[in-house]
Amino acid sequence: MSDIKVLVADDMSHDAVDIMSKGGLTVDVNTGLAPDKLGEIIGQYHGLAVRSATKVTAAILAKATALRIVGRAGVGVDNIDVPAATARKVQVINTPSGNAVAAGELAIGFLFALARKIPQASASTTSGGWEKKKFMGVELTGKTLGVVGCGSIGRGVAERGAGLKMRVLAYDPALGADADLPAGVERVGFDELISRSDFVTLHLPLLPATKGLFGKDTLGKMKKGSYLVNCARGGIVDENALYEALKSGHLAGAALDVFENEPCGQVPLFELENVLASPHIGASTKEAQQKVAVELAEVFLDFLKNGRLRNAVNKV
Ligand SMILES: NC(=O)c1ccc[n+]([C@@H]2O[C@H](COP(=O)([O-])OP(=O)(O)OC[C@H]3O[C@@H](n4cnc5c(N)ncnc54)[C@H](O)[C@@H]3O)[C@@H](O)[C@H]2O)c1
Repeated sequence: MSDIKVLVADDMSHDAVDIMSKGGLTVDVNTGLAPDKLGEIIGQYHGLAVRSATKVTAAILAKATALRIVGRAGVGVDNIDVPAATARKVQVINTPSGNAVAAGELAIGFLFALARKIPQASASTTSGGWEKKKFMGVELTGKTLGVVGCGSIGRGVAERGAGLKMRVLAYDPALGADADLPAGVERVGFDELISRSDFVTLHLPLLPATKGLFGKDTLGKMKKGSYLVNCARGGIVDENALYEALKSGHLAGAALDVFENEPCGQVPLFELENVLASPHIGASTKEAQQKVAVELAEVFLDFLKNGRLRNAVNKV
């Protein structure tokens, strides 16, 4: 048994446990713990692995006297009090790369679903209807796809869009003029992207600067009859402004995997026939869940055994 102990506090692929155990860490899996129970046992652990269920609060961190690293199998660290961790010199890490294919494929799926009204046609047909006229669609081929945010997910979406024979535009403030973009992808400015695109898909982070970026003004500048997909973060799109843009017919449809408040409940947008929604399932594939667990385990091993740091969210 190793002296270095890791607690896996949320459900994740058992591969994570196997990798860390084989690497010489002692791993306990104890999921669904109430905060007081977690507080009682956390003092003995050097590593804490979570997904989104366990709340790593300042109160928990105050009891985590041996803790050196908290890892999120996934991207968002909203459930971890990062400033409190930093103040206690606890390293926070995440595993962004494992989700990229899953989130990107969901966005591509929404493009087809919007263009051909697949969810609505399926619901109508399986309830006895045969509404061929109602489900007239549009083709993706030859249309312009605007990718806002060209990091690990957006890049893959841009590449796949080009593969679908779409004309692909990309905007990302981090892309320089000499950026190495996938073949067939054109770097443009933000205003050009939103005014030229038939489909706009969002793959940027939620930051103070991007909160409400797709509000009344931006939505109004989008091409009439265009579609919006948000598989990035709720809050980047102003849901009230989106409702107005869809209701007025300026936009033809929207698909959202993420919401300003989650779970979102029955938001006004859902009154509209041309809105598609899913419950933040961008990363919910078997492959992604396995990849993020493996990545977390490898980062923990490297850090706890070899003192090497990757995927840092904070600087301690
Ligand atoms: N729906 C889901 O379940 C799910 C799963 C994984 C990731 N995500 C979200 O997807 C988004 C992208 O994730 P990623 O892993 O590709 O991140 P990333 O950090 O690799 O890429 C994000 C890119 O956005 C760019 N960016 C920053 N500000 C911008 C702006 N104002 N306009 C345009 N681009 C801007 C950055 O320069 C960066 O290149 C994030 O919001 C992430 O939280 C959602």
